[in-house]
Amino acid sequence: MADRQDRQDLVYETHVFCCVNVREDGHPRGCCSARGSVELREYMKARAKELGLAKIRINTSGCLERCELGPTMVIYPEAVWYGYSSRADIDEILERHIIGGERVERLILETDQLVPKPKAKRELKLIIASVDELTPEIKRIELVPRDGGELPAFEAGAHIDLVTGDGLKRSYSLANDPIERHRYVLGILREKNGRGGSAWLHESAGAGDTITAMAPINNFGLAEDAGEHILIAGGIGIAPILSMGYRLRQGGANFALHYCTRDARNTAFADEVEEVFGPNLTFHHDGGDPARGIKLDDVLSKRADGAHLYVCGPAGLMAAARQATGHWPEGTVHFELFAPSARPKAWKNESFEVYLSRHKQALTVAADKTILEAVREAGIDAESSCEDGLCATCRTRLLGGKAEHRDDVLSDREKAGNKSMMICISRALPGETLILDI
Ligand code: FES
Ligand code: FES
Repeated sequence: MADRQDRQDLVYETHVFCCVNVREDGHPRGCCSARGSVELREYMKARAKELGLAKIRINTSGCLERCELGPTMVIYPEAVWYGYSSRADIDEILERHIIGGERVERLILETDQLVPKPKAKRELKLIIASVDELTPEIKRIELVPRDGGELPAFEAGAHIDLVTGDGLKRSYSLANDPIERHRYVLGILREKNGRGGSAWLHESAGAGDTITAMAPINNFGLAEDAGEHILIAGGIGIAPILSMGYRLRQGGANFALHYCTRDARNTAFADEVEEVFGPNLTFHHDGGDPARGIKLDDVLSKRADGAHLYVCGPAGLMAAARQATGHWPEGTVHFELFAPSARPKAWKNESFEVYLSRHKQALTVAADKTILEAVREAGIDAESSCEDGLCATCRTRLLGGKAEHRDDVLSDREKAGNKSMMICISRALPGETLILDI
């Protein structure tokens, strides 16, 4: 009797099949594994366990024959198909479909669907709950949902795009604890040579105002399985690093932060950073002279097995960190950029051809257009934010051809590998046709 009861307890009520099919590089249909399905399926398994979902089995599967829409999964017994691309998508499928019994409409694959749906722009109307001065140049802005309820979840390291006074979008990192769903907290540095977004937020945005934002996206995620996390923040670069601190503390991770500012008066979120990082924190005050800041060679010359590094701050700090980590393995150093590096080379633009594998469509990119513009002119939705090779929002998998990489996101090794590119700024090398995962 006990055995039968045990067996009944083990019966799975829900089976998820995630395609992890692998195809050779350059295959025009691409494949789900090349689009990250293996890692995302592992994440789904781990999250389901964390959420205590005992009656669900997250299986792998071979090709589900919907490759252009991948990564794909199908959930039984409901027979609902999803195309997904991020941990946030997985979180939403688990929370809304598996736990809530709803459907995640924006990810559903229709029976007769041949090309990906345009990604629904998740526009949010938010209220500025408070504006506080953290330093003479940095304000803390807290945003809450205008219509109550919960905000879309975000991962540590994520940012949102705000529509500022001139109608343009600007990206700002989220600084609060990622488990919070009632608010987003930003730290806004007044940029002296910026495009006006931060000046508008400093001068014109006030408590009670409504502001439009896009749902969070994350290009600066934590490597959750890392054995050690080294975090380096310069100035307002502390914002995404602070949200990472919350996540790492909750997970009992091994982590350490080096936080460099001009002086104590110009140190944003100082008390909160101390509370979150505790003994794992070293403050550095350089008085405005980077040479007196963090001794990167001391901190980074020896890498512990399994260690990952996260750096966010001014361009000089980022460049120095890049140089000091040349010997770190591929994929273990993560950067979040706010401004482009010096780009002295006068790039010459020529027209070239691209092939959009998911849409099975060839396009010519004129000399005075970017790939992003050409794709949009063809009526195909494509996400972007900075449009300057900084944020990785437009990162696109490259299935064939060699790109002239002009961005500040990819490492030299990633550029040489030609597996992905930033379509807002990078182009084809002369004579190359690019096959893009679009
Ligand atoms: S490779 Fe995943 S559906 Fe074909
Ligand atoms: S949109 Fe930011 S890198 Fe392309």
